Amino acid sequence: MCGIVGYVGQADSVPIILEGLKRLEYRGYDSAGVAVHNEGGLSVRKSVGRLTALEEELSERPLRGQPGIGHTRWATHGEPSGVNSHPHTDTSGGIAVVHNGIIENYQELSDALEADGHIFHSETDTEVIPHLIEHELKNGDGAFLDALLTALKKATGAYALGILSSDEPDKLYAARLGSPLIVGLGEEGYFIASDVPAIINRARRVIYLEDGEIAVLSSNGVEVFKLDGTPVTPEIKDVDLKPESAERAGFETFMLKEIHEQPRVLRALLEKNLDDSGHIAMPEISLDPNQIKKLRRVMIVSCGTAYHAAMYGRLLLENMTGLAVETDLGSEFRYRYPKIDRDTLFIAVSQSGETADTLASMRLARKKGCRILSICNVPGSTLVRESDSVIFTDCGPEIGVASTKAYTAQLLAFALLSIYLGRVRGELSEINEAEFIRALRRIPDAIHYVLERSDLVQKIADKHHDGPSALYIGRRYNYPTALEGALKNKEISYQHAEGYAAGEMKHGPIALINEYLPVVCICTKTEDEVYEKMMSNIREVEARHGRIIAVATDGDKTADKIAEDIIYVPDTREDLSPIVNVVALQLLAYYAAQSRGTDIDKPRNLAKSVTVE
Ligand code: G6P
Repeated sequence: MCGIVGYVGQADSVPIILEGLKRLEYRGYDSAGVAVHNEGGLSVRKSVGRLTALEEELSERPLRGQPGIGHTRWATHGEPSGVNSHPHTDTSGGIAVVHNGIIENYQELSDALEADGHIFHSETDTEVIPHLIEHELKNGDGAFLDALLTALKKATGAYALGILSSDEPDKLYAARLGSPLIVGLGEEGYFIASDVPAIINRARRVIYLEDGEIAVLSSNGVEVFKLDGTPVTPEIKDVDLKPESAERAGFETFMLKEIHEQPRVLRALLEKNLDDSGHIAMPEISLDPNQIKKLRRVMIVSCGTAYHAAMYGRLLLENMTGLAVETDLGSEFRYRYPKIDRDTLFIAVSQSGETADTLASMRLARKKGCRILSICNVPGSTLVRESDSVIFTDCGPEIGVASTKAYTAQLLAFALLSIYLGRVRGELSEINEAEFIRALRRIPDAIHYVLERSDLVQKIADKHHDGPSALYIGRRYNYPTALEGALKNKEISYQHAEGYAAGEMKHGPIALINEYLPVVCICTKTEDEVYEKMMSNIREVEARHGRIIAVATDGDKTADKIAEDIIYVPDTREDLSPIVNVVALQLLAYYAAQSRGTDIDKPRNLAKSVTVE
C-alpha cells in the first residue's frame, strides 16, 4: 500500500523518481506526487489518479532538482484528491514528506499542533509528520535529525517515510517502523524505495532498514541511526534480481507474463528442493528433525490468495504428516485466543512478506512459543527476517496486482513441505515419496498444456463475461481452487464471483442458478473419490439450466456431455491437480477482464502489498 521512492546524487531526480514510481504503482494508484530541492527551495507537484497524470503535469510544468522524493498512493485516510496526495508539507512549506503506513495517533497530535497554530490542509494522517517535525525544530536545538527523532518518538502506528528539508538541501531522510523500506547504493547516488524492483536497474547493493531505524542519505554516503540516536552499522546486501525481471518482456500485461512464467518458476522451485538422486531435500528448512517429530499441530495463517494456498496446504499436510492442521486469515487470527504452543509449527504464507495482518499473526504465534516457518517470495522482507525458517518461492518480482505465479509456487511449496515433514515424521514411505515427486515433475508440462489452450479459454471468457455474476464450485483439494478462481475473476474483471464448496451449493447459492448464471465447475480426475459427488452437484446445476463451464481431465466424456463449455487439463493426481487447474481459471479471469476492458495489472481499489491492517 503506497509506494515511496527517493534519490540523492548528482543526476536530476525527477526522471529517476518517476521510473521508480512506475515500478511501485502496483502498491497504489489513487494519486502520485513528487518533491525536489531546487534553487527555489522545495517544489512539489501532485496529481490525482494514475502516474500518467503526474507525468502530464510534469510535462506541462517541468521540474528539476535533487534530492527528490516521490509517492504513489493507496488511500487510507482521506479520499483520493489533490489535497490528500503526497508529498505533504509543514506550515512553512520547508519540509516535505512521503509516507507509507498509518499514523494511528494523528488526530490527537494534529489537534495539539493546530492549537499551537499549525494549519492543516488534508484529511490524511501523514500531514501530521511534517508539522510535528516543524514543531520539534522550533522547540528543540534546531538540528533536523534531533527534531525528526523526537517527532517520530511521538508518532504511533506504522511508517516508511522519505523526508526533505529546505534547510538541508543536500540530504534525504528516511525512517521505517512496520512498513518496508530499503536504501539502495548505486553508482549515480543513493536511493530509498518501498521495494527492490523500484530501483533494480540503478542500485545492486541495498540496506534493508530495520524497524525503528532512520537513514540519512547525502551525496557522500548513508548513515543509519536508531530512534534513540545511536549510530548503526547496517548490513549491505547484494541484489541478485535481474533488471529485466521487472519488465513485461513483450507481454501486454505483467499478469499475462506472470501466468506464462509458471512452468519455468515451478520447475526451478522443484529442482532446488530435491537432491541429486531426486529425493526431497528442502535445503532452506532449518528446523531440527527432533522438533519436527515432536510437533503436534500446524497453524497456517495468511491473507488473500495466500490464504487459498493455506487451505490447500492444510489438506496435504493433514494427509501426509499425521499432524492436526488449522488455517486462519491473518485479520481474524490476530484477534483470536489461539491454543498454540511450542509444539505448534506456525506457517505464515505471503508473497510480499509485508502483509500487516500476517506479520501481526506471526508475532502473536512467536509470543506463544511457536516455531515460525514462512513461505515467502521476497528475500529481505519483514516476514523472512522474523521467521525461524523460510521456504522461498523464488518467483521473481510479481507485479500484476492479482497473484498468479506466487500462488502456484505457494501450492508447490506446500507439496514439497508435506513430503519433507511426512518423511521426517515417518508418515510417508519412500515409495510414496518417489511416486509423488514423479507426479510433481509432470506439473510444469501440464501447465504448459493449459497455457497452449489460451485461445479456447479466451473464447469461453468472451462468451460468459457480460453477466452480473459467476459461481465457482469445487470439492476437497479443488475447493480452494474454486475460491481462488472466483477471487481472480472479481479482482480483475469486477464481475461478482463467488467460490463455493460444491457440496454446500444446496445450502444457498443454488437459489441463484438460472439460465444466465455461469457456473465454473472444477471436476478433474475421473477416478478420484469426490469426482462422482462433484458430478452430482453439476447435475444439480444442469437441472436448473445453469451455464456449466467445466474444468475437466482430458478425455472426460461425462463432463463433456453436461458442460456447455469445457477446458481440458492433463490427467494429474487429485492432490496436485489444483496447481494445474487454477491456471485455467487465471486465464479465464484474465480474458474476462480483457473483454470487460478493465486495467488488469492495476484493478481499482486494490494494492498488491497490504501493509495496513
Ligand atoms: C493483496 C494482494 C493479493 C495477496 C494478498 C496477500 O490483497 O492483492 O494478491 O494475495 O494481498 O498478500 P501477501 O503478499 O501476504 O501474499
